[in-house]
This record gives sequence, C-alpha cells and structure tokens, in this order.
Amino acid sequence: MALERTLSIIKPDAVAKNVIGEIYARFEKAGLKVVAAKMKHLSRKEAEGFYAVHRERPFFNALVEFMISGPVMIQALEGENAILKNRELMGATNPKDAAPGTIRADFADSIDANAVHGSDAAETAAVEIAYFFASTEVLAR
Ligand code: PPS
Repeated sequence: MALERTLSIIKPDAVAKNVIGEIYARFEKAGLKVVAAKMKHLSRKEAEGFYAVHRERPFFNALVEFMISGPVMIQALEGENAILKNRELMGATNPKDAAPGTIRADFADSIDANAVHGSDAAETAAVEIAYFFASTEVLAR
C-alpha cells in the first residue's frame, strides 16, 4: 500500500452546518492525518483557478458561486491510499447516490452543495495541495 497525500476541502455548506469537527473525526478514524490546514474565504479568482479543468461544464459558474459563498476549511490529508480512502469517506458526488454513512449522505443537501471536495488521483492531489499550501506548510507527522 502506498502512503499518499490528498487535498480535501470542507465546503461552505458544511462549514455553515458547524460539522468541521465531525468530518475531521471521520478522517482520523479512517487513519488519515491532517498534515496541513487553513480556513479561507476563497476569492472568485482562486475558485475559478482551482476548478479551471471544469470551466466548460454547464455547472461551472454555479460551482464557483457556491464555493465563494462562505468560508471553506482546506486540508492536506496523509495516509495509506489516502486518495481513495478519502473519496470512500466522502461518498458519491450527488448525495442522493451516496452510500449511507458517508460524509455526503450525512451532511450534503444537493449536488450543488455537496459538503466536501477530495482529489481524484495522485497527479491532481499534488497540483491541488500546491495550489493552497507552500511546501513548508505541509508538515511531516
Ligand atoms: S468528481 O467529483 O470530480 O468526480 O465529479 P464531477 O462530476 O466531475 O464534478 C466536478 C465538480 O463539480 C461539482 N459538480 C457540480 N456542481 C454544481 N452543480 C452540478 N450539477 C455539479 N455536478 C458536479 C462536483 O461536486 C465536483 O466538485 P468537487 O469540489 O470536485 O467535488
């Protein structure tokens, strides 16, 4: 098994619901360690840059508007198979399809406001972590 890092964002809807701690508890119970973290209110430019790969998709503007609607909690997580493990914890993109007990099943209201983001592959994880954290802000534990 590979020790990996992944980028996780607790989105404005989940921050507003005051469930940062409950979501962190799920990461920790699954063996994922927080190795970097910051709370931020993203600018439009930051959100557009982060989701640039989705620029042509019909939901792009709605996604950006949502992501700048309030503060987010951004963290790098480290652990064995961290990328897949985090995506399993998150559940399907649309909470209607998310398995019971997943973060999105428990905390997300809709596909637009779906509580969390998680990197989908090693290459994107590296790019996404570097988008928000300087290498000196990601700490070995
Ligand atoms: S994923 O999670 O990347 O596999 O899913 P994908 O379908 O490619 O979606 C990419 C991101 O866009 C969000 N999304 C939407 N936002 C608003 N409205 C609609 N209809 C919608 N469909 C998808 C989805 O949550 C993904 O955001 P992140 O932050 O990566 O989870």
